[in-house]
Amino acid sequence: MEWMKTSEALVKIPADAVIVFYAESFGLTSDAKEIDKRMDFQISRLIEEKEITGKYEECTVIYSCGRVPANKIIVIGLGKEKQCKLNDFRQSVAMGSRKAQELGASKIALSVPDHLIKSAGSTDLVQAVVEGVELGCYEHPVYKKDVNNQKISQVIFAEHMMSQSSVEAGIERGIVFAEATKLARNLSHQPANILTPTKLANVACEIAARCDLDIEIIDEKELENIGARALLSVAKGSKEPPKMIVLRYQGAPNDKETLGLVGKGVTFDSGGIQIKPATNMDWMKTDMAGAAAVLGAMEAIGTLRPYCNVLAVIPTCENMPGNYAYRPSDVITSMSGKTIEVIHTDAEGRIILADGLTYAKQQGATKLVDIATLTGASLVALGREKAIAMGNERDFIKEVLDAAEKSGEPMWELPVGEEYDYYLKSDIADIKNEGGSTAGAIQGGVFLKLFAEETPWVHLDIAGASLAHQDHGIYRKGSTGSGTRSLIQLALQMGL
Ligand code: BES
Ligand code: ZN
Ligand code: ZN
Repeated sequence: MEWMKTSEALVKIPADAVIVFYAESFGLTSDAKEIDKRMDFQISRLIEEKEITGKYEECTVIYSCGRVPANKIIVIGLGKEKQCKLNDFRQSVAMGSRKAQELGASKIALSVPDHLIKSAGSTDLVQAVVEGVELGCYEHPVYKKDVNNQKISQVIFAEHMMSQSSVEAGIERGIVFAEATKLARNLSHQPANILTPTKLANVACEIAARCDLDIEIIDEKELENIGARALLSVAKGSKEPPKMIVLRYQGAPNDKETLGLVGKGVTFDSGGIQIKPATNMDWMKTDMAGAAAVLGAMEAIGTLRPYCNVLAVIPTCENMPGNYAYRPSDVITSMSGKTIEVIHTDAEGRIILADGLTYAKQQGATKLVDIATLTGASLVALGREKAIAMGNERDFIKEVLDAAEKSGEPMWELPVGEEYDYYLKSDIADIKNEGGSTAGAIQGGVFLKLFAEETPWVHLDIAGASLAHQDHGIYRKGSTGSGTRSLIQLALQMGL
């Protein structure tokens, strides 16, 4: 998609479709008013007739019949309470542009309501617009001979109130955030026979080369040498060799802080010996969405190059029930030296993340964020609307939640205090990996907390948020790329 900015009024721009906004409280945007005038007040009439009410998610298409250079006018309702919120505006832009794409538009034009410039700030607002169009019009890749290639190829952003530099900065940042999210979506969408741990490592190598990041792929033999028994144990039931992917971005060599991002990279989760039910098992190809978010974020960080250090660690493997699969009752000595009693082979994510966290610490991470499709219980608790966050240090939790809020991926905190530790007390090992059916999402946090030790750490459970069941705003049915933008934002915040 090509982005262009112009100070020309929207009413003069030739395009297949222009997108304008309407809210009951402030009426049409100034650009929309000019178009309305040239259209013999057709929009006003529709408002009078209450066919356009301005409620959130309302979408009305009007054909211009040559009265303005644009072919179609798409009027989007902004809603009463939502009209001033940047996240809702991003969703509205996504919906409008997707409508345009569905109607066959390849060139669209849009502008933003003036009041949002004041409340959101120019650069953030433009970034949200770019993310809205790019992500709302995103299509998951398919393996079909005939694909509908009708896509928006050019977007004209009409604006005369903001400074040129803030518009340019917003466009640039929006494209980077959106491309990173698309990369994460593409990866999580890939079938498990195609996106194996080895393939994931190859993708990481490509990203490293493209974005000037250091990379190390630790293979099976080397994993033995460094004692990554937790990762190796989960991988044993599969023919596919596991890997630990390590990416480094050194943007502040004199700074002592290093942000460690640890992503769960289970390329297929059958449940192992305690195999999952058949229905919907195909979705377990997305059990590497945490890894995908980390890779997307690293691509963006390598492109934007903020003043901070980031270390990405991705333990990746398959969880399969093959002959050599790990069993319930196994006791594993993890890289940290702490022992794990396996109660449930389907609670594999926390096991591989244990080694991921330990390795990130060993390699110098001073703050840790892990991101994982960890528990079905997180889906029960918060649905697909929000990811769960928990952590061991107030200030760092707040930093992560702020980054999530700012990037439009609101997360919700759950507790992970000592009062929950008893769930995972083991008779035979330092910890067990499952402790009954209550507090399921929190148990994941309790387990990982032991391996984060004293390092400030936040655990993000994206099992719900990583998938959308229908098209909605910037989300398309399927993988969402959840967490990607929050992680980029966190790195940018740390670099300030
Ligand atoms: N990958 C799953 C979690 C998951 C569930 C992701 C639904 C996406 C959608 C994870 O490895 C798992 O199987 N967790 C178990 C843990 C249980 C055995 C303690 C679960 O949630 O049932
Ligand atoms: Zn599992
Ligand atoms: Zn899993």
